Amino acid sequence: MSPTSPWWRSAVIYQVYIRSFADGNGDGVGDIAGIRSRLPYLKSLGVDALWINPWYKSPMADHGYDVADYREIDPLFGTVAEAEQLIEEAHEHGIRIIPDIVPNHTSDQHAWFQAALAAGPGSPERGRYIFRPGRGPDGDQPPNDWDSRFGGPAWTRVPDGEWYLHLFTPQQPDLNWQHPEVHAEFESVLRFWFSRGVDGFRIDVAHGLVKDPDLPDLPPLPAPADGQPRPHTDHPFWDRDEVHDIYRAWRKLADEYPGDRSFVAEAWTDTPERLAAYVREDGLHTAFNFDFLMSSWDPKDLRTVIDDTLAMLGNVGAPATWVLSNHDVMRHPNRYGRTAARRWLANESYVPEGPLDLQLGTRRARAAALLMLSLPGGAYVYQGEELGLPEVEDLPESVLQDPVWERSGHTERGRDGCRVPIPWSGQAAPYGFSPDNASAEPWLPQPADWAERSAEAQTGDEASMLQLYRSALSLRREHPALGDGGMTWLDTPAGVLAFRREPGFVCLLNLSTEPYRLPDHTSILLTSEPVDDGRLAPDQAAWLAV
Ligand code: NOJ
Repeated sequence: MSPTSPWWRSAVIYQVYIRSFADGNGDGVGDIAGIRSRLPYLKSLGVDALWINPWYKSPMADHGYDVADYREIDPLFGTVAEAEQLIEEAHEHGIRIIPDIVPNHTSDQHAWFQAALAAGPGSPERGRYIFRPGRGPDGDQPPNDWDSRFGGPAWTRVPDGEWYLHLFTPQQPDLNWQHPEVHAEFESVLRFWFSRGVDGFRIDVAHGLVKDPDLPDLPPLPAPADGQPRPHTDHPFWDRDEVHDIYRAWRKLADEYPGDRSFVAEAWTDTPERLAAYVREDGLHTAFNFDFLMSSWDPKDLRTVIDDTLAMLGNVGAPATWVLSNHDVMRHPNRYGRTAARRWLANESYVPEGPLDLQLGTRRARAAALLMLSLPGGAYVYQGEELGLPEVEDLPESVLQDPVWERSGHTERGRDGCRVPIPWSGQAAPYGFSPDNASAEPWLPQPADWAERSAEAQTGDEASMLQLYRSALSLRREHPALGDGGMTWLDTPAGVLAFRREPGFVCLLNLSTEPYRLPDHTSILLTSEPVDDGRLAPDQAAWLAV
């Protein structure tokens, strides 16, 4: 990597799902004090930055993705002063901080939405959201046929008869990005946090801000052919071209601040070309590469995703990002441990299917980590991934909190299974997540067998997932071939992926069912499992010096 390349082109960014990371005050919910106490752990893990899920004041209808005040920290998590302390201390540890920003919708408790409800139809206050009269003689039918992402119609009627749009829960009314005050407000919020030292933002639902002003019914969509990207259609709310104007303005704003502030877009697009449009030179810096996360454990599928990603992003000069898990999807040991190990689809339902082989899934997760951390560009590590945490698939129904569970009429369990609080130490729950004298239990129960998965239990155990991540991240920091840059595929039999990066680095991944003899090398830098007799076993990966 060139020493002048900006940090975000090669950063390893650790995702902190704040509710579940570390609880400093003993109320059973993670908070800023907890993050501050774990900075030494994050430093020794070797990550460059933290993306922190929303920490703003919120009624928590969608765990913070319903923001009531973008300039306040929710009391569950701390205060603005504590956020400032965290930013400062993280910087002292050489770690950057990237909060989430949620511009598609606010909370229904946001002052603007409350004012809109009070002011009534036709008022300027309603103009900042998307209010419409209903259809039908009594206006009792929603204005169009859009569904909410979490189930049910995307419209809710208010007592005076108008309806408002919410692509997510009814507690998350969509803003009207055709309104200049919405632009001005978010630019002011970005400045508020940039001036407090944050290094960038993760943009929630970055592809959804602009709606077709006519709010037409959904066009008929071709069913996605299995595994094939669907061509982009002129969708009335997802990934509309006009959204890029917003990000060009945000880019200019970020560039006014010193120190390479940067954005990462959560943009779900039909094709890599559409994703690349978000990261053109005058647009955002990076975007999550969900195609990699959705890929099946299959050499052809993985190679296609890698090639398409690098080609499309290369066309616009943007670095790739590589992501295996986050707080919205089933943790990858469970995805890879299903015999089908099939492709995941955007908007995948959260229903586990098929028998699980967690040992196999974990073995593949170890290999996937070496693949991800050696591909050109940056990478994301979702908290607990470095501990090999599995999805908790058997949370009792009585504890489920994700709005998906209620909104789907109890047909989808939702995303709680990947959000279970982190086990840090000790033999029993809360495994150091909360202090010893905590007044409440963790907000989701932790499995009884997580003692061996704690950070403490894995520290120093060379066979552990934690040590694998630590070794990989430390090699990645030191090795001049890793991070930003290029790669070349090597000739290998079908089923084995191998690529070279200069100077002198090769990554191999065996996705076949046969062992594969390692090619000539000067040394083995790291392997996902011990290598037997110079042969890479199925579902194993290796980093070689050549
Ligand atoms: C995407 C976030 O990652 C998810 O957790 C949230 O529910 C939706 N956006 C709505 O904000």
